[in-house]
Amino acid sequence: MSQPIIVFDGVTKTYAAKTAVDNLNLEINHGQTCVFIGPSGCGKTTSLRMINRLVEPTSGRILIDGKPNDSARPEELRRQIGYVIQGVGLFDHLTVAQNVGIVPRLLGWPKQRIDERVDELLTLVGLDPAVNRNKFPRQLSGGEQQRVGVARALAADPPILLMDEPFGALDPITRERLQDELIRIQQVVKKTIVFVTHDIHEAIKLADRIAIMRNGRLVQYDTPEAILWRPADEFVQEFVGTDRVLKALGLIPVWSVMEPGEPGPKWPGDWTASTVPVAATLRDALSAAIANGMRDTAVVDERGAVAGWIRRERLLTVLEDLQSREVAS
Ligand SMILES: Nc1ncnc2c1ncn2[C@@H]1O[C@H](COP(=O)(O)OP(=O)(O)OP(=O)(O)O)[C@@H](O)[C@H]1O
Ligand SMILES: [Mg+2]
Repeated sequence: MSQPIIVFDGVTKTYAAKTAVDNLNLEINHGQTCVFIGPSGCGKTTSLRMINRLVEPTSGRILIDGKPNDSARPEELRRQIGYVIQGVGLFDHLTVAQNVGIVPRLLGWPKQRIDERVDELLTLVGLDPAVNRNKFPRQLSGGEQQRVGVARALAADPPILLMDEPFGALDPITRERLQDELIRIQQVVKKTIVFVTHDIHEAIKLADRIAIMRNGRLVQYDTPEAILWRPADEFVQEFVGTDRVLKALGLIPVWSVMEPGEPGPKWPGDWTASTVPVAATLRDALSAAIANGMRDTAVVDERGAVAGWIRRERLLTVLEDLQSREVAS
């Protein structure tokens, strides 16, 4: 598994006088989420669409599993690559089940296998199949439609998933929820995801690696941690913004700092603790603690049972560490 699954090898795309992507060199490893970010027009979508050959490079090559992506027919390539776009692109006249089943049907799967796969995927993305299977897209909310889009991209179980601002049109709460769901889904399906966004919070939250682009060039390709604390230049620094401490808290999972739960009464004393799920970050824990007078915060598992505690002192220590880093850098 040491060979990267996607390699951009000196890739340039020129339109007439405009260089949309300028000598892009970048490797993405199996099972990782790589997030492209940068100002409008910097070449994110063009980079993404060259992977599945909706756009052909002017020069350079893209390798998938070590093979140039133009060594097979585009249709074959695209079967291995799920694609989710902003605005979803569902077919209005097809039901949810028909939309999700498009690729399996093209591949000639038997009907029963398609039906099972559709139900499995709807469940995976948090839509009850019995309720939603036969609905039409217009009968769903924006967030639900976006879930169907994700289910459709996963239908033929492609190893690679391309997502171009998939949550861009959603309200902040729905967006946050779908981000959490994508993280959960990714733990199950373990795809290689290439994700485009404008939103640095989204990038930090979802990415194993962030690729920051400017004017068609790759400015920095690094872990969220390194982008936060070791920005390559002033452009990156400005892009990351000022509240680095909060962003860094968003990179620390609560399970990594929680004290294991103890038996006995659910809440100590006569107060009710704020709770965060095990999958939350210290950013969530801080906000829960603030809402509760900075008292200890309970970490709860999926059934709502206390799995452990984020102690006030521990939270403050982590905060102080990050603040001293902020001052030092
Ligand atoms: N088909 C095309 N013909 C001419 N120019 C194009 C074409 N597609 C993209 N471009 C130009 O290439 C540049 C990069 O476009 P691209 O869509 O990759 O940007 P982007 O980073 O995805 O931007 P946004 O964040 O606004 O979606 C832009 O200047 C755009 O105008
Ligand atoms: Mg774009």
